[in-house]
Amino acid sequence: MKLSLYTDDLRDAMADVVAVGVFSDEPDRGLAFASLNRGLDGALERACRDEAFKGHSGQTLVFNVAGGIAATRVVVFGFGERKQYGAERARAFAGAASRVASRVRAKSLALQLTVPDDGVVDVLQLVGALAEGSVLGAYVYRAHKTVEPGEDTLDDVRVAFVAEDVQGVKGSALRRALERGQQLADATLFSRDLVNAPPNVLTPIELADRCKRMAKIAGLSCKILNARDLDRQGMHLHLGVAKGSDHEPRLIHMTYSPEEKSERTVALVGKGLTFDAGGLSIKTSEGMLEMKSDMGGAAAVAGAMMAIAKLKPACVVHGIIGAAENMPDGRAIRPSDVLPSKRGLTVEVINTDAEGRLVLADAIAYAQDQKVDELIDVATLTGACMVALGKKTAGAFVNDERMAARLEQAWKASGESFWRMPLDPALDAQLDSDIADVKNLGERYGGAITAALFLQRFVEKPCAWAHLDIAGPVLSAESVDYKTKGATGFGARTLAEYVMIVPKKR
Ligand code: BES
Ligand code: MN
Ligand code: ZN
Repeated sequence: MKLSLYTDDLRDAMADVVAVGVFSDEPDRGLAFASLNRGLDGALERACRDEAFKGHSGQTLVFNVAGGIAATRVVVFGFGERKQYGAERARAFAGAASRVASRVRAKSLALQLTVPDDGVVDVLQLVGALAEGSVLGAYVYRAHKTVEPGEDTLDDVRVAFVAEDVQGVKGSALRRALERGQQLADATLFSRDLVNAPPNVLTPIELADRCKRMAKIAGLSCKILNARDLDRQGMHLHLGVAKGSDHEPRLIHMTYSPEEKSERTVALVGKGLTFDAGGLSIKTSEGMLEMKSDMGGAAAVAGAMMAIAKLKPACVVHGIIGAAENMPDGRAIRPSDVLPSKRGLTVEVINTDAEGRLVLADAIAYAQDQKVDELIDVATLTGACMVALGKKTAGAFVNDERMAARLEQAWKASGESFWRMPLDPALDAQLDSDIADVKNLGERYGGAITAALFLQRFVEKPCAWAHLDIAGPVLSAESVDYKTKGATGFGARTLAEYVMIVPKKR
């Protein structure tokens, strides 16, 4: 997709679709709307009245142009109240507009940039958000559709603004913001493609191959460990989870190193279950339905690494993925098996469906062998987290307050929804086993917390550590603003934004 700046009136933009956002508490709908409306002899305002379009947050009106302006369609998007406006509303606007454009097979789109005059919202953030929304909203997963030749796709998006709106900000800075937004969004689409891929295609080996290919193009180093390597590493939790599957497990280790020597190293660790049938503690058919997305954490890490290679942060970043498939068969691990871990602790397996924490525990130990200052793991870890927070919000468990503050800054920048969760020490004893050092299951209540506490037992101090449970937002049940139905690519942008604000020195 080609993203560019446009400084003329939106009305004159030679684009198939033009889009403008309006505030619900601004009845005259602003200058850009007024200009379009004049070009259309008042028909746009009449359509808004007919459709009871008030500009409520997310409200979208698609107007079919019958003449007067060059575009064939106008999208009017509701920003909601003026004081609620910010980068996330702008991202939603661009997403909604590009989704319409993509649906009607438009090739070009012009978006009006809205900058509130109170100066509280950063223009560069808004421009970046428009780029992200445009790329994310136009996404369609076509890999397994028989595509008709010559089908049009949206490939030209222009961001329109008037000079007063961006006073003081140079064109080069605006273009850089567009580029940065596009890089973050392209990386998110890589994550979405991984999650949307069916599990017969995206096996652990295929996941490793795709990461390796991406890493090569992006300029990251990439090492793949096979089952024999995992055995040498003592990773018997990871190997154990994979034992019931015909597909061999992999550990994927990508590394970004900045040009200037860095004192600080961050590890991003992703759960990469390419399919989770539950193992011998088998799931119901309904419970299995969405389990191709059980590598959503891995996808977030891979996407983040792709963005990081472009954004070039100051610290070293390891992207580590534990890839496996959890299936039941004669060689599968059993409930009550005891497995040794890379870290040294022995684990009693109570439930083979609590497999993500097993794979992650070994991957965390592997990551800490790389001498990292900070570690973030990302996983579709528990249904309990969805019970606690709903399907749109991820849980964030953090053992370090400075890291928590930076993470919050990162998720505010990305617009992704997270909620801080407690690492409640009162629940930790639930993980004591009668016959091993730790067991992989606590009580039903607080299941997201005991899963996090299990991981915490494998984090060697001193290390700032965060665990992000993205079981809910990894998929979206519907297409809404820049989210398209199916994989969301959740986590990739927040992780990349996070790494960008990690301080250079300890
Ligand atoms: N991958 C699942 C968690 C999950 C469930 C993600 C639903 C997305 C949607 C995880 O491996 C799992 O099976 N968790 C079990 C844990 C239980 C056995 C303690 C769960 O949440 O039911
Ligand atoms: Mn499971
Ligand atoms: Zn799982």
